Amino acid sequence: MLLSELNDIKEKLIKEIEKSSNLKELNDVRINAFGKSGVITTVSKNMREVEPTERPKFGAMINEVRKTIEERLGKKTEEFEKEELNKRLKEEQIDITEPSKGLEIGAFHPITNVIDRLTDICVDMGFSVVEGPEIESDYYNFEAMNIPKNHPSRDMQDTFFITDEILLRSQTSAVQAREMEKRKPPFKIVCPGKTYRNDSDATHSPIFHQLEGLVVDENISMADLKSMLTILMKRLYGEETMIRFRPSFFPFTEPSIEVDVSCPNCHGKGCNICKGSGMLELLGAGVVNPKVLEISGIDSKKYRGFAFGFGLDRTAMILDSISNIKSLYKNDIRFLEQMR
Ligand code: DAH
Repeated sequence: MLLSELNDIKEKLIKEIEKSSNLKELNDVRINAFGKSGVITTVSKNMREVEPTERPKFGAMINEVRKTIEERLGKKTEEFEKEELNKRLKEEQIDITEPSKGLEIGAFHPITNVIDRLTDICVDMGFSVVEGPEIESDYYNFEAMNIPKNHPSRDMQDTFFITDEILLRSQTSAVQAREMEKRKPPFKIVCPGKTYRNDSDATHSPIFHQLEGLVVDENISMADLKSMLTILMKRLYGEETMIRFRPSFFPFTEPSIEVDVSCPNCHGKGCNICKGSGMLELLGAGVVNPKVLEISGIDSKKYRGFAFGFGLDRTAMILDSISNIKSLYKNDIRFLEQMR
């Protein structure tokens, strides 16, 4: 073999490299040169046939050819890869000015909204938010709230009993006794949560929600309760809201009141939401009966308290103009979508 032949091989490979128009063709050239039976591989193998005196020159020449071809292949590969990348960048370009498909945005459930709003206001006033069990004992739900077994006031709450002593709590008031046992006065707590009664029509659901509030301190009076509830109502329904306190009865408070607010829809004129009365009944409240404090181990000579219990479903229905309480529990996506 002659050095000139080697040079021809080199020139031919360079031409092939230049001619190739993509990575695949370039790879064919690479195999053709350096593969098992590639030209450069074959020439290297055939070194033995070269005259010994010629070998060093020949060897150097082969190395030079190998280096040149590898360099050319490398350069061309880089070019193709760059081209490929630019092509992809162009093809996959995103037009950020195109209108989007629109994201589905979820909404909070009306009850969750009411709980958040009320607890936010109460936390601002220094209350702590607590929770209690929904499966409750007869003791905390009734007896500790001054409602003994067989007492007629139990009839006010048509309760789901699980056993004689275990029930689904019919009021969040059950949490009052639990907290009074745990805490040392003074303290202020609110407890939002689910409650259950055997009751079902357009304004009653067997599962519903309440928010209980309890303040225990020295020198608590009805005036504290009235002013706190007035601030709470005005912050919830607006500054112009009128508040009415009516005498009532609850076994756990003495005196007891019920609290009405002017209808936020008609502002007291009378509409279908307030059934023409202009006012809406929202919660029960009162000064904690000293017996209730004593049952839970709080000295009723030193401490007094006030408490209140909100119906949250009603509050949500008024705030979001919902006419049937069942809508809150059906999980109908069309209803929930309106709450956005
Ligand atoms: N637990 C009462 C109910 O479910 C509401 C209530 C009234 C709660 C007066 C209170 C209260 O804390 O002081 O009807």
